[in-house]
Amino acid sequence: MKFKGVIPVAGFGTRFLPITKAQPKEMLPVIDKPVIQYVIEEFLGAGIDDILLITGREKRALEDHFDTSIGLEMLLKEKGKEKVLEEINQISNTRLFYVRQKERKGLGDAILHAENFVDNAPFIARVGDTILASQKNPLKELMKIYEKHKKPLILFERVRGKDVEKYGIIDGEKIGGGLYKINSLAEKPKPEEAKSNMAIIGVYLFDSRIFDCIRKTKAGVGGEIQITDAINLLLEDEDVYACEFAGKRYDIGDPYSWLTANIEFALKRDDLKEDVSRFLKGLDMN
Ligand code: G1P
Repeated sequence: MKFKGVIPVAGFGTRFLPITKAQPKEMLPVIDKPVIQYVIEEFLGAGIDDILLITGREKRALEDHFDTSIGLEMLLKEKGKEKVLEEINQISNTRLFYVRQKERKGLGDAILHAENFVDNAPFIARVGDTILASQKNPLKELMKIYEKHKKPLILFERVRGKDVEKYGIIDGEKIGGGLYKINSLAEKPKPEEAKSNMAIIGVYLFDSRIFDCIRKTKAGVGGEIQITDAINLLLEDEDVYACEFAGKRYDIGDPYSWLTANIEFALKRDDLKEDVSRFLKGLDMN
């Protein structure tokens, strides 16, 4: 079964101002790679190479990053830097499609921009500012489940009680095989109203049935067309499943999470781990 990839990247990075004033949050680096590149590599690793980015104003740096850079490539060749050159070529050879969301009308509206591109294929919509570190490629795992059950799917993570108001929250029941059947979803509920601590982490596997639901969705939280509300409409006619993400999530649009990602990833890199761990051990904690 052939899946497509959709990455909404139109949102502001308000938690990371001022760096995100004119720079997309998806270009924030973890060590030397922008977060969007981790995301694209995850799609490619799952065998999805038909990928659409839903962009917006101030997001041009994303297209530039995946463009060819002839001057740089020539320079690296001249200097005999074959390894970096190969990496740079790989980035520029990634074939991506782009469409602009002209008004910031929410994640649901952004995903609706993918309708023509998706062309009735099942697709994974995944936010572009999050790194999912896990042993198995989480997108591949979702695809396997879909191939078995043919139900739309949502990845979730359990969060601390007070954090439920930052996420879409799932009310569902366990049905075995690590899967939950969703009863309903609530977008950013108050902690006292949340039905669970199962938080949507912005990774969804849909088929084209979602588009009609988005079209019927009225503006919700924040005056935006929420994908959470569209899924609630889908639930009136179809089962939707959820499965727990088995790994560690880094929300790179959040300064603390970004910082910890940099430290943890550095400790895994041969060229950095010694220096970084020496630095950490020598830190004066007072
Ligand atoms: C969006 C979704 C929310 C989800 C979150 C995950 O919210 O609306 O349901 O939990 O992504 O990142 P946002 O973070 O764009 O406000």
